[in-house]
This record gives sequence, C-alpha cells and structure tokens, in this order.
Amino acid sequence: MFACLKLIANSNDNDDKYINIWGPGLSPQEIVMPARYFFIELKKYNRNQTNNELKVILQGSKDGRACRIRTNLLKRIDGIYIFRYKLYESCDSLQINVMYNDIHIGKSPYKYGSVFSDECNCPIDMNSWQNKWQCPIVPERILKDLKEFIEIDWNNLREQIINAFDKPGSISLCHYIIKSNLVYRRCYGKYTGFKMFIDNILLSLSRKVILPDTEFFVNLGDWPLSSEAVKYPILSWCGSMDSFDIVMPTYDLTESTLENLGRVTLDMLSVQGNVNKQWKDRKPKAFWRGRDSNKERLKLIDISRQHPDLYNVSLTNFFFFRDKEKEYGPKADHVSLFSFFDYKYQINIDGTVAAYRLPYLLGGGSLVFKQDSSYYEHFYDDLTPNVHYIPIRRDLSDLTEKIKWAIINDKDAYKIAVQGQIFAINQLLPKDIFCYYVHLINELNKKIISPIIVFDDMELVELDTVVHCACRLKDEL
Ligand SMILES: *[C@@H]1O[C@H](CO)[C@@H](O)[C@H](O)[C@H]1NC(C)=O
Ligand SMILES: *[C@@H]1O[C@H](CO)[C@@H](O)[C@H](O)[C@H]1NC(C)=O
Repeated sequence: MFACLKLIANSNDNDDKYINIWGPGLSPQEIVMPARYFFIELKKYNRNQTNNELKVILQGSKDGRACRIRTNLLKRIDGIYIFRYKLYESCDSLQINVMYNDIHIGKSPYKYGSVFSDECNCPIDMNSWQNKWQCPIVPERILKDLKEFIEIDWNNLREQIINAFDKPGSISLCHYIIKSNLVYRRCYGKYTGFKMFIDNILLSLSRKVILPDTEFFVNLGDWPLSSEAVKYPILSWCGSMDSFDIVMPTYDLTESTLENLGRVTLDMLSVQGNVNKQWKDRKPKAFWRGRDSNKERLKLIDISRQHPDLYNVSLTNFFFFRDKEKEYGPKADHVSLFSFFDYKYQINIDGTVAAYRLPYLLGGGSLVFKQDSSYYEHFYDDLTPNVHYIPIRRDLSDLTEKIKWAIINDKDAYKIAVQGQIFAINQLLPKDIFCYYVHLINELNKKIISPIIVFDDMELVELDTVVHCACRLKDEL
C-alpha cells in the first residue's frame, strides 16, 4: 500500500485520477472567510485509513514568526476530508501542505503570499469580489420575492412600515442603511437582540466588498410580517406562502457561517464531519427531539406510542403546552444533533415557523421526512420531494407508512438521503450563504428609487475592536 501511494504521489500526471482537492480555502488570497475550508478526496485509496495517514499542515509567517491559525480536519463517512482553518491574524505568507504518509499529494505544497484574516477591513469593488468568489447566478428565490415589488420608494414606505409595526410589545424590526460602505441602523420593538446576526453579516460583508448604498428593513421575529393587505418589502428569516416578506438565510445558518470554527460547534461543515456512522450502521428508526412549539409535535408523540419499534422521539421542553406535560412527557434530555445521525430517519416538523434545523438534517446524511408546510427558508424552492427528502402530510397521517416504505426499500431510501446531503453540500455551505446575502443586497438595491440618506437617529454599527490591516497584498508592493 505504501509503495503504491508513493508512486501515485510522485507521478503528477496521474494525480487527478486518484486525488481531488478543491474548495474556496485553496484561494485564501481571493476568498476571505471567517474559517476557510476545502475538501480532499482520496479516490481509490483505502477508505479505511485513519486520520493519521492524511495530514494537512499549515505554515504561516508574520513578522518572522509563525502566525496564529486554528485548524481542523474532519472526515466524512464517504471518505472525503474537510479541512478548515481560521486565521487569527493576517499572515505575510502561507503554505498549505497536504500530505499522505508524509508525501505531498495533489498540487501540494500550495504557496501563497500575504493572506488576510477575516477581521481585516479591506473591501474591494463588487465586480472583482464577484469574480473572485465565483458566486452562482442570482437565486430564483430572490428574483421571485422581489418580483412582487416593481419599485421600492422608501420615502413612501418607510413611515408606513414603522407605523404599522412599531407597536408596543408586538414586533421587533430594524431599519438599516448602508452608505459609503458603513452600516447604520435603528431598531423598533422590545426584543431586538437578534439584530446582532444582521449586524455581524453586514459588517463581515462590508469588510470584504464595497456594498452599494442601500436601505432596507429586517424583521427580527420568526413570523413573516407582510400580507396582501400590507405588502412591504421586509427581509425575514422565514417566508410563508401567504406573506410577501423577502427571505434571507435564517439567523441560525447565518451565525454558524460566521462562527464556523469559532463560537459555534454545529455548522454545515461540522455536521458532515462529526457523524461517524455509515448508513448501514444507523438504526432503522425515526429519531426526533424538540420542544412543544406546535401541536403536530405532540401528535408525533402519540403516533410513536403506537409504533415504538419505528420511533425514538421525545419532547425536550414544555412551554406552549405546559398543561400537557403529564400526557406527553416526561421531557427528555437534550441530545446533540450529531447523535441524531445514529438513526437512519429524521423528521422535520414545523415549530412556530419552519424548523431551522433542516439544513443540518440534510447535511448529516440521514433520510429526512419533511412535513408539508406553508413556511419556507431561502433554499426550500430548490429542494425536490422524493429526490432530496420524503414529504409527509401536515397532519403526519402518512408518516408511519412512509417510514415502513423506507425500511423495506432501503436502497432507495439511502439514495434520497445521499441526494439530500449533496444538496446541502452544494448549496448551504458558508460560501453559499455569503453569496446569497450579496445577491440579495444587490437585487434589492436595483428596485430602490429613493435617495439613500442616513437619518440622525440612526446608530453607526461598528465592531468593538477594529483590526488594522495594510490592505495590500505584500506581493503587490
Ligand atoms: C478496514 O479495517 C478493518 C479493521 O482494521 C479490517 O478488518 C477491514 O478489512 C478493513 N477494510 C478494508 C477495505 O481494508
Ligand atoms: C432513544 O434515544 C436515546 C438517545 O439516543 C437513547 O438513549 C435511548 O436508549 C433510545 N431509546 C430506545 C427505546 O431505543
């Protein structure tokens, strides 16, 4: 085995047949992210290998010393590795060594000049940014949401929105203005803590790209606000068939994108790499944990009691139906989402709105049974029932029958599970989330006809600590 690998590693002509290494983390000068990542596929290599045989070693220097970098190597059950690294400071130079049994593979070593950390405030013009990031075309969802608004005249709408929603205790929403790449906001409502997710993504973007001057409103709550009667172009985490809000990625997905390899442990990369059971080793049961935020979630408990052999489901908290705890309890301990994938089947049931866990359920590679719902997230339109997941009726009446189908048709079930995971990998990784926000801001901006003016009562949104970076690559000096 070793001799064979050595041969492979040394014959560059053959490399591509056996080794595939790709991802935005291999363009660290062009693509600045909180945590950069790339993939390593060792085709034809023994998939049994331990992590010890594959090593990714980063050598970064700053002012003649090693620069501070956090790294993380994840292995997916399909044998593909995900390597992530987070720069705590900019490096004067960076070298990425991908080694198998101490021999460079692929195009390793990858050598770069200076590489910026994500904290650097070094925005570039929109065109260059888009070329460097190679974002896919504008998502259909954005075009569809914006089609409802021929043009947006904030001089006309601004007061209407504030008057409609700034009522004591009801709703929390923030008014944002981006002007000369600075972010300003004013929030309305009692609970505005969630503004930090929007602040963080806007600041992160403004450090990377020169954003157009623009104006918008963000709904910090879960329920969409806009209706046929009051059709306003408000941005929301969650959309619904009967509302006209413009959807953006959920705060959960946004946060895990920004805090990848940071404060957050569950994100779209870690969920792929922390699942260690192959499909065949997962238990053929439906697993679910969650709180009582919807009556169908109680119904799921009822159904499971009739078929204990098919389900392992429990409520973890009683809040909405406190009086039903005796009947539907006892409440179960919290289970890490990574352990959900000890089971083949996952159930996605609405909570107060769409269940924001769907990206992770797909990413973990189990088969997802998704309840019919009028609520949706930014990517639902691109999902195809029976291709990426199994649809179930809103009242869950066909759930048991469909789980039985999956048990009997294990091959087909597995195929759908894999397709769901591939969807998540292709569309919901950190790069995709950044791209979505940029497209959204650009497209929204095209509709605005009113001048962009910062109001006196708005607050400038800034980072607590500003990192000073010389925004020119050393190689260019
Ligand atoms: C993988 O490793 C196990 C235990 O070390 C061994 O029994 C098995 O044959 C290996 N599989 C392959 C495909 O090499
Ligand atoms: C259900 O899942 C939990 C968490 O994985 C596990 O501890 C428990 O033993 C399971 N229950 C049954 C009946 O399998």
